Amino acid sequence: MKNSIGIIGGGQMAEALIKGFLEKNIFLKENILVSEPIKERREYLAQSYQVQITSSNLEVVEKRELLLLAVKPQVMASVLEEIKSKIESKHHLIITIAAGLSISFYEKRLPEKTRLIRVMPNTCALVHRSISAIAKGTFATEDDLSLVEKIFLAIGEVVRVEERYMDGVTALSGSGPAYVALFLEALIDGGVKVGLPRDLSEKLALTTLEGTVALIKASKKNPYEIKAMVTSPGGTTISALEIFYREGFPGIVISAINQAFERSKKLSQNLNS
Ligand SMILES: NC(=O)c1ccc[n+]([C@@H]2O[C@H](COP(=O)([O-])OP(=O)(O)OC[C@H]3O[C@@H](n4cnc5c(N)ncnc54)[C@H](OP(=O)(O)O)[C@@H]3O)[C@@H](O)[C@H]2O)c1
Repeated sequence: MKNSIGIIGGGQMAEALIKGFLEKNIFLKENILVSEPIKERREYLAQSYQVQITSSNLEVVEKRELLLLAVKPQVMASVLEEIKSKIESKHHLIITIAAGLSISFYEKRLPEKTRLIRVMPNTCALVHRSISAIAKGTFATEDDLSLVEKIFLAIGEVVRVEERYMDGVTALSGSGPAYVALFLEALIDGGVKVGLPRDLSEKLALTTLEGTVALIKASKKNPYEIKAMVTSPGGTTISALEIFYREGFPGIVISAINQAFERSKKLSQNLNS
């Protein structure tokens, strides 16, 4: 079981994970079996990664004990309905990455005592820089959690959380790449506004963001301390920060994340009802 995995749904996230598994030698290509409804997509995955492919979800469940559900939340109920008769709680361990679906959503639909781990990765998985939050289902064991932790380390960092934090995780790190991209876009436009060529502005903005994160991590200082280091009395930085504060930038970010959190809760309620 530890050497092979079955993936149901061969979309974007599945591909990012397959790439990570192969590059980090978590699974060999011949031990990864993916079911995917679209023929062209199956051919693409087989050609690009030499993994095993099938159009049958049931074949995946029959041939693999470790199962990763990577379909959209909207189709999850029908997938569970299709596979439930073949799931054996003694053998199968199910990992789901679907946003918004609670552990109880699966446990209600699958055989009693099915072992399940819920994972919330983010799109940075494509470059192995995801942060994946993992939460244990009612019947999953500590060993199951450790196994899933090891698997998701292939695509970045992993944090163990209680399931009640998943809407907050979705609002911060799940949607986060979009917020950071928006801020970067604004930084680049700012550079252009003061006369920098766009490509130069882009390089300066991206590298400054990467460098700041690296500095905060390496120095173990908090963001406030780093900000203070750059902000000399009467200088340029404090002039800019004055505008950020006056226009309510920190409050905007907090409210935006809170709104994503509320939206995630609402979507979860709709999907789980
Ligand atoms: N992308 C992200 O940033 C992100 C982050 C965290 C979590 N997630 C979660 O990851 C999951 C997958 O997301 P994604 O972005 O990879 O979506 P995606 O690219 O749409 O992948 C889903 C794949 O599943 C296939 N599929 C549809 N119905 C199926 C069925 N009945 N049986 C087997 N496969 C089926 C889809 O084929 P069709 O194209 O024919 O529908 C598609 O190839 C979602 O539940 C999402 O919530 C995504």
